[in-house]
Amino acid sequence: MCWIFGYIWTKDSADKILLHWLERLEYRGYDSAWIFVWDNNGNSQLVKSVWKVGNLVTKVQKTLDQTKNWTFGIAHTRWATHGWISEENTHPHHDMNNNFVLVHNGIIENYFMIKKELEAKWYKFYGETDSEVIANLLDDLRTGDFAETVDLVVNKIRGAYALLILSKRNPGEMIAVKLWSPLVFAYDNHDNFYFSSDKQALSGYADKLIYLDDWDILHIKDKNYQIKANWIKISRKIEDMDIDSLEASKWDYKHFMLKEISEQPAIIKRICKWRVNFVDKTMNAEAFHGMQDEHFKKIVFVGCGTSYNAWVLWTYFMEDLAWLESVAFIASEYEYQHINVDDETLFVFISQSGETADSISVLKLLKSRWAHTFGVVNVVWSTISRLTDYGLFTRAGAEIWVASTKAFTAQITCIVLLALFLGQKRWLSKAKYDKVLSELEKIPELIDEILDTSEQIQEVAKKLIQYKDFFFLWRHFQVPIARESSLKFKEITYLHSEFYPSGELKHGPLALVDANYPTILFAPNDLLFEKNISSIQEIKARDWIVVTVSDKDIAQSDYNIKVWTTIDELYPFVTAVVGQLLSYYAADGLGREIDKPRNLAKSVTVK
Ligand code: AGP
Repeated sequence: MCWIFGYIWTKDSADKILLHWLERLEYRGYDSAWIFVWDNNGNSQLVKSVWKVGNLVTKVQKTLDQTKNWTFGIAHTRWATHGWISEENTHPHHDMNNNFVLVHNGIIENYFMIKKELEAKWYKFYGETDSEVIANLLDDLRTGDFAETVDLVVNKIRGAYALLILSKRNPGEMIAVKLWSPLVFAYDNHDNFYFSSDKQALSGYADKLIYLDDWDILHIKDKNYQIKANWIKISRKIEDMDIDSLEASKWDYKHFMLKEISEQPAIIKRICKWRVNFVDKTMNAEAFHGMQDEHFKKIVFVGCGTSYNAWVLWTYFMEDLAWLESVAFIASEYEYQHINVDDETLFVFISQSGETADSISVLKLLKSRWAHTFGVVNVVWSTISRLTDYGLFTRAGAEIWVASTKAFTAQITCIVLLALFLGQKRWLSKAKYDKVLSELEKIPELIDEILDTSEQIQEVAKKLIQYKDFFFLWRHFQVPIARESSLKFKEITYLHSEFYPSGELKHGPLALVDANYPTILFAPNDLLFEKNISSIQEIKARDWIVVTVSDKDIAQSDYNIKVWTTIDELYPFVTAVVGQLLSYYAADGLGREIDKPRNLAKSVTVK
C-alpha cells in the first residue's frame, strides 16, 4: 500500500528528513517514490523516481537545489492500484491549474464518475489515478477558503483515503483528512509537525503523537494545528512517542527475512515470560484480559494472509484444548456473509500490522452491531488494537520484512497459551495442560536446533529450484504450516505452489502430480504419521519427488528434513520454521530479491 509523509516547519532540511522516512519504509513494499519540498520564499521542487528509493536518493543528490533551505515538504511511496507504474502516475498530484498539490493513500471508489463530470467541465488529466481526480475536484469546488474547499470535496468523494493537501494560495498551510486509511500526526518540542501513514517512520523525530480518527480534518496554519470533525473543533488524545526504533539492522544476516526467522526462539521465550510460570504451571490471568469471561460459547476468528493461516490452527485446538466452538474466516470474504452477532460470541481479530483494511472493515461492521471483540495484534496501538474491546499484543517486535515469519510463530504461541488458559477453565485435564506447558518451554531450543542445522534445508532447496510447481501437503495440526509455507514459497520464490490435505490427493489432485511436481509433506511423528506414510506411498508408486519434514527417518521419501520431537499440538512450531527456511533458501538459490518481494506490501491498507 502507499505510504504518505508530510513535514512542516524545519529543524533541518525537509528533503533529508523525508528521504530518511522513505528509506526507513522501503521494506514495506512500493513501486515508486518522490519528494516535493518548499522553502519560505515560495520556491518549490519535485523529484520523482520509479522503483527503488535508492534511485530517488541519487536523483535528489543530482537535481535538488541544495542552495535553498527546504523547510516544508511531502513525500510518498506508491503501490499501484489505479494506473501503471510510471512517473506520470507517481504522486504528488496537482490539479490542471496548479492550485492544489496532494498525496493520497487509499482508493476513491466514485473517482470515475467524478472524472467524467470534471472532463465535461474541460478538466484535462495527465494520468490514470483516482488521486489526480481529487486534485481537480479541489480546484473545481474552490471557494477561496482552504478548509471549506476541502470539506466540500470530502463530502463528494467515496472510499478510503488519507490525504495531505497544500494550496498555492495558502503558503505555509497544510490540511490532512482521513477516512479508513491510517494517518498519524506528530510534533516535537520545536514546533516541527509531522504526518505519516506509519508512526514507526517518525521514531526519533517526534515527541508527541495523535492518531487521527475517520472524518478528522487537521489544519496546520500559523505554526499551529486545529482538528475539526463535522465542522466542530475537537481535540484528540495526545500520546507519547514510545515505539521500537525502525532503525532496524539486519545484524550480520544476508537478509531481513533470515534475521527475523532467527529471532523466533527469543520471541517465543519473551511472549511466555510474563504470561506463564513454567515452574508452578500457572498462567497470569491479567495477560488474557477480556478472555476471562466464561459466558462466551463461540469464538470467531477474522484475519487475512499469514494471520489467518495461524488461526486456522486454533480451530484444531478447540476440541483438543479449549473445548470451545470456534471458526476462522478470511476477512475479505466474511464481510459479505450473514454474520450472527449474539452475546455468547466473541469475535477475535488477528493482525500483525493492525492496519489491514479488510479486517478493519469487518471489525467496524461488527462494532456497529455491538459485537464483543478481541484483538491479537503485533503493532502496538494500531487501528485494530484501538478499535477492539480487549486484546493482547503478540510482542514479536517490529516486523520489518514484507512477508511475515516471526509474527506467525508469535501468533501460534499466543494461540497455545489462549487455548490452555480457556481450556483450564473448562474440561482440559491437568495432565494434558501440564504436558503442553512443559513441552512449550522446550520449543525455543528445538527451533534453535533447526536453525543450527539449516544446511540440510538449504541442500534440499537447491535440488527443488529446478521445478516450477509444488504441493505442500498436510494432515490435522499441520494445516496452518502447509498453508503458510505455500504462501511464503509464492511470496518470495514466485513459483507456483498449492497446499492440500494429503488425504484428499486421491480424490483428484493426484492427477496433477508428475515427475516435475514435487510434494513437500509435513509428516511429524504425530497421531497421523502412518496415514501420511500411505500418502507418500501413493506418490512414490508413481516414482515422483517427495520431500518429508519429520522427526522420524522416512525411507520412502527422496529427502527428509529432520525436526526434533515434541507433542502433536506443538509440531507446528518446528515445521513452520522449516517451511520458512525452505522458501528462503529456494528464493536465495533463484537469486530473488528476498527483502523486497515484487508486488507486495507489508500491510494492506486498502480493500
Ligand atoms: C504475509 O507474509 C503477508 N504479508 C500478508 O499475507 C499478511 O499476512 C496479510 O496481509 C495480513 O496482514 P496483517 O497480519 O498485518 O493483518
